[in-house]
Amino acid sequence: MVLCERTYRKIIPVAGGKGGVGKSVMAANLGLLLGEAGRRTVLVDLDVGGSNLHSCLGLKNTNLGLGNFVSRKDTTFQDIMLRTDYSNLFFIPGDVLVAGTPEKVQAQKRSIIAQLLKIEADYIILDLGSGSGALVVDFFLISNAGLLVVTPQATSVLNAYGFLKNTVFRFLQLELANKKAASTLLAETLREARPNALPPMAKIIKSIEARDKASGARVREFLKSLKPGLVVNMAETPEDLRIIENLQDLVKKNLGVDLSCLGLVYRDEEVNASMRELRPLVLGRPDSLAARQINRVAQKILQSRDFPDMPLDLSLYRDSFELAAIEAENDYSRKAAAPAAEKSDTIAPDEMLAVLSAQQKKISELQGTIRMLTMGGQGGPLMGRF
Ligand SMILES: Nc1ncnc2c1ncn2[C@@H]1O[C@H](COP(=O)(O)OP(=O)(O)O)[C@@H](O)[C@H]1O
Ligand SMILES: [Mg+2]
Repeated sequence: MVLCERTYRKIIPVAGGKGGVGKSVMAANLGLLLGEAGRRTVLVDLDVGGSNLHSCLGLKNTNLGLGNFVSRKDTTFQDIMLRTDYSNLFFIPGDVLVAGTPEKVQAQKRSIIAQLLKIEADYIILDLGSGSGALVVDFFLISNAGLLVVTPQATSVLNAYGFLKNTVFRFLQLELANKKAASTLLAETLREARPNALPPMAKIIKSIEARDKASGARVREFLKSLKPGLVVNMAETPEDLRIIENLQDLVKKNLGVDLSCLGLVYRDEEVNASMRELRPLVLGRPDSLAARQINRVAQKILQSRDFPDMPLDLSLYRDSFELAAIEAENDYSRKAAAPAAEKSDTIAPDEMLAVLSAQQKKISELQGTIRMLTMGGQGGPLMGRF
């Protein structure tokens, strides 16, 4: 696992557990913003079997990608890394419909990870697939600075928790594989636990330490270095952060991991419009609320030299969650204050009715006037038009 705060190269895997929460939208737009800020940025589509990062970037699906890399021995990462027309942004496309890619990626995982670690760039953003399978988790574990995209729905929050749980236990299994006493204990703990009722991590570490002090210390160190950052997406109101704070508590208590929050992005129709137009949100609609909020996440990444450590002014707020809550409140009041701009191309059904009945009233008045005009004088000027 690369500890990003200690190197200039920041590897940022973007996961979330659940599909459709906005991982690819987030990865693409963050990549564009980091590139625009003058940092050499590489976006990698690692959603094997579901790759669509090219669409979020407004690119056609015609370039070589990971599918070609795993199916042809003579293809290198250099061959599949595309220089885009966007400033400082490079792109490694996904499987591009090459048959059998998922199995091949699984088999060549080590070589893919080795290649990813060789990329020379300031930011390397990995757009991961959904679920908590070993492939996604292993890609997430490349770095300690992953992002988790969650929506305020219970299913998304639970999936994000499940994802982190799998990540932590996957690491423990790999790390302790050659340590007999510790790995036996871990296997017993997992076997004996009832579903959803694992002992808290603090207790697991204590029992590992009792049998093998050094392994216990390694696990402690790993948990301290894993620093996932949440991005709450498709929120409706600032209160949506509450359900996420429950996740923060659960993850701390049960898994011993400190979550931070990089910000909240409201549900915004402009995101879908930009997807339809194949023009990335932050370029085509930079003034939209979602674009501005994603930009704020990008600024936090850019301004933290030791990312994922964030330079927070803790005299002003308790932690990154409280800062996100303050930002979400401010954005919400502005969102409420500017309804005309927000609703410009949508009409609610009751507004539509009001417009229609106003039009109906005008038509009846007009018809009345015409009747008056044509009354008596059968050959009036407007006769026959209605
Ligand atoms: N903040 C948002 N507001 C409205 N729609 C969004 C927002 N973020 C993402 N979407 C939409 O959600 C859908 C899924 O996004 P995507 O990034 O492909 O999800 P994932 O990669 O997690 O499967 C897309 O159609 C996208 O336009
Ligand atoms: Mg995706």
